[in-house]
Amino acid sequence: MDSRWSLALWTLLFTSLTLPGAVTSHPQDGGGVRSQRGDARLLQDVLRGLEKAANFFREDFSSINVDGLFGIRVAQGTIIQSLNFCVSGTSPRCSPELYARLGSLNTTIGTMADRALPYIKAQDPDYYQSFYKTIDGPYMIAESSQSLGRAVSAPGVGTDYNEESGDRCLASLMGTWRRDGRTVPVCTVDQECLQMMTRPHQASYSITHQLLYFIMAEKNGCLDELDSLLSAEGLGSVKEFEQSLCGHIYSEMEGEVNDGHVAQLQQDLFLEQNVLCGVIGFSDFFPRSWISMVLGWQTSRGCFSMAGSLVALQAEIQSVSDQQRELLQRLEEEARDSDSAPWTSRKLMRERVMEDDCLAHKTGLGIGVLGVYQRHLLENTAS
Ligand SMILES: *[C@@H]1O[C@H](CO)[C@@H](O)[C@H](O)[C@H]1NC(C)=O
Repeated sequence: MDSRWSLALWTLLFTSLTLPGAVTSHPQDGGGVRSQRGDARLLQDVLRGLEKAANFFREDFSSINVDGLFGIRVAQGTIIQSLNFCVSGTSPRCSPELYARLGSLNTTIGTMADRALPYIKAQDPDYYQSFYKTIDGPYMIAESSQSLGRAVSAPGVGTDYNEESGDRCLASLMGTWRRDGRTVPVCTVDQECLQMMTRPHQASYSITHQLLYFIMAEKNGCLDELDSLLSAEGLGSVKEFEQSLCGHIYSEMEGEVNDGHVAQLQQDLFLEQNVLCGVIGFSDFFPRSWISMVLGWQTSRGCFSMAGSLVALQAEIQSVSDQQRELLQRLEEEARDSDSAPWTSRKLMRERVMEDDCLAHKTGLGIGVLGVYQRHLLENTAS
């Protein structure tokens, strides 16, 4: 394509989009030019959201925790994938402006994530040792170009996921689990973990953590191992299994949205569900109404929060869990000479109140979700 023409097209798509309500008032994807324009406009909003979130984290990277950085690494991966997409055709698929904007987001986010790492390590060295592979680099997860199709199924009911066993399974997969003074090899999967991660009919964080396990398998190069383990159980490939997990998760999310709203205490879960199934790329996870809704949750500072009274409670929980964590650390130090592996529970670390009542976990998930929205909108608008 003639580059002048391509630039003109982009200018049209990105600057003359003043269709009021094009974003929210047509939840059914209308198709055609109008939907393309709506998506281009929405992409601009999502990019602005990403820039705000990145700037927020950049100013306060010393208080990012592991779970927060997870979402940041997901966003980083999707931005790199978009940059690659832009130059993957025979002619450029993105305007120079868009490409530059993504490039500068890539730099901001990459720099901030690398700077946050030593602070995260200092917060809890043992925890860092077990989980640094969840946050050491961008997530480059292969996207399914499919929709869920017939995989959509009723939400699960179980909440059987045991956090400590789950952490052990994750750390074994990543090759950071220490047993009898030795670290297990990467891609270690025992029967107990396989059973736990494929237990049917799970709901909420139980099923999202099952899904996280398979995403982590991909990030750590364990897809082949898990493909054969799953197929030996008659569960298909990892990608097929992920599709069935997301089929349950999708229905759960639909139930969480009432009249365009999600209850404050459920928003964190909603974001987690959206980032995990979104990063795999199932197109069902990008309705415009969800994208607009999540953008509406972002504060003017660029973070994600809750009502003040709930934040105050969260801060209290945090101080109790910080104390508990210190006690656990002392306990570990006392026990270090025995053969028990040092351990701190992941759950205790989950949420953390940052500046301006911003929540670290929720904001991390938020930036990850905006990242996957960005990749989806870009690939479906720019081609
Ligand atoms: C993205 O940023 C990283 C540094 O964090 C850099 O190595 C990489 O080349 C950048 N990618 C693109 C496509 O600009």
